[in-house]
Amino acid sequence: MKLWGGRFNKEEDLLMKTFDNSLPLGKRYYEEDIIGSIAHAQMLGEAGILTTQESRKIVSGLESILKELQSGELVIDEEAFEDIHSFTELTLTQRIGELGKKLHTARSRNDQVAVDTKLYCRKRGLHFIELLEQLIAALQEKGAANPVLMPGYTHLQRAQVVTFQYHLGAYVEMFKRDRARVENALAIMDENPLGAGALAGTTHPIDREITTDYLHFRTPSANFMDAVSDRDYIIELLSACSLIAVHLSRLSEELILWCSQEFKFITIDDAYATGSSMMPQKKNPDAAELVRGHAGLAIGSLVSMLTIMKGLPLTYNKDMQLDKEAFISAFDRTDQTLTIMQRMLVTLKVHPEKMQQAMKDGFLNATDLADYLVKKGVAFRDAHDIVGCIVLYCEEKQCSIEELSLETFQQYSEHIDEDIFEYLEYESSLNQGNKREIRGGS
Ligand code: ARG
Repeated sequence: MKLWGGRFNKEEDLLMKTFDNSLPLGKRYYEEDIIGSIAHAQMLGEAGILTTQESRKIVSGLESILKELQSGELVIDEEAFEDIHSFTELTLTQRIGELGKKLHTARSRNDQVAVDTKLYCRKRGLHFIELLEQLIAALQEKGAANPVLMPGYTHLQRAQVVTFQYHLGAYVEMFKRDRARVENALAIMDENPLGAGALAGTTHPIDREITTDYLHFRTPSANFMDAVSDRDYIIELLSACSLIAVHLSRLSEELILWCSQEFKFITIDDAYATGSSMMPQKKNPDAAELVRGHAGLAIGSLVSMLTIMKGLPLTYNKDMQLDKEAFISAFDRTDQTLTIMQRMLVTLKVHPEKMQQAMKDGFLNATDLADYLVKKGVAFRDAHDIVGCIVLYCEEKQCSIEELSLETFQQYSEHIDEDIFEYLEYESSLNQGNKREIRGGS
């Protein structure tokens, strides 16, 4: 059951057969292979390379295979065929007879696999855009529903007051850029490789505009050799997936910290946690940990693909068949992790009182006090120093800045007046300067 053999005297070694078999992963894009083949057959008819009747018969044969695969009536036998292309053509010939052998006129598996992979990447990429939009909506809604103040951190040390909504808003921006990266990758890849043949086109009078329209590409690709060698678009999507993974992983890390006993800012819903086999009290944030772990594997796929491609001479080389291992797993991971994160966000509970408490314990109004002094005419560097001394004093006394008396404040600076107490309220800094934007969420 193969597409070649005439020039061989001997069967393949059995191990070689499995070694070369790309069907277990290639079957994931059977729809694209059949739709690409339908477009090709249609074109062969319209261009007069096959008769209209022949073209119709091939198209309807392919359509029936597609339908039966979609319904589950037909199941692909992974061992019987070398790849998805062999499956499609040989199954067609089994069904419609000798005419099936004409399908591959003016085509190579090299332009066929290129078009299949592009169509598949486009389908998965469009779905990532939808998932990113759902995740962005979940972040925005969670933030809007919880208008609470919290500490913002640098070096994981409490730094300045922000709002929970604003913190989540930072992720909204990251995922918006990720969406733009996926859209950009889809825009750049929008060229039809079909018609490039093995590497040097074909002597048949094909019409690439027909398959381009049929498959909704912007234009036929310009150079045949590039068309069959190009896997840039996979790498670009994998790069977008890697950044999505990195952003999801950072968010996961924060959720893991926030749900710990040490923070207790949030509770993750039971549906996204697991327990311990030994310690009855444990509730572990496994979903977030897995999302964080998957990022390592997603980045691995990008590196694999870059490394596979970097030394290949033009044009097609069999190394490229291994691309599926990199992109299919990375795409599945992206789908799963975006979905799990969205669900985890929708269901998690926020504990405003814990956030407020952490805010009060961290001298988060120290920078505001320095700004106050500057507004009273003190140079910022001097103000910074004065407040540093006040913080040291508070640490010794184990109190917060706003608990000091006016007399104590005035021992540090004569510029401090009664109005300082209102100024030091945690909310009040967010009513001043461009900090007002923090209140606005994202
Ligand atoms: N089996 C390959 C794959 O699944 C496609 C065949 C490409 N061409 C070739 N000459 N072997 O990616």
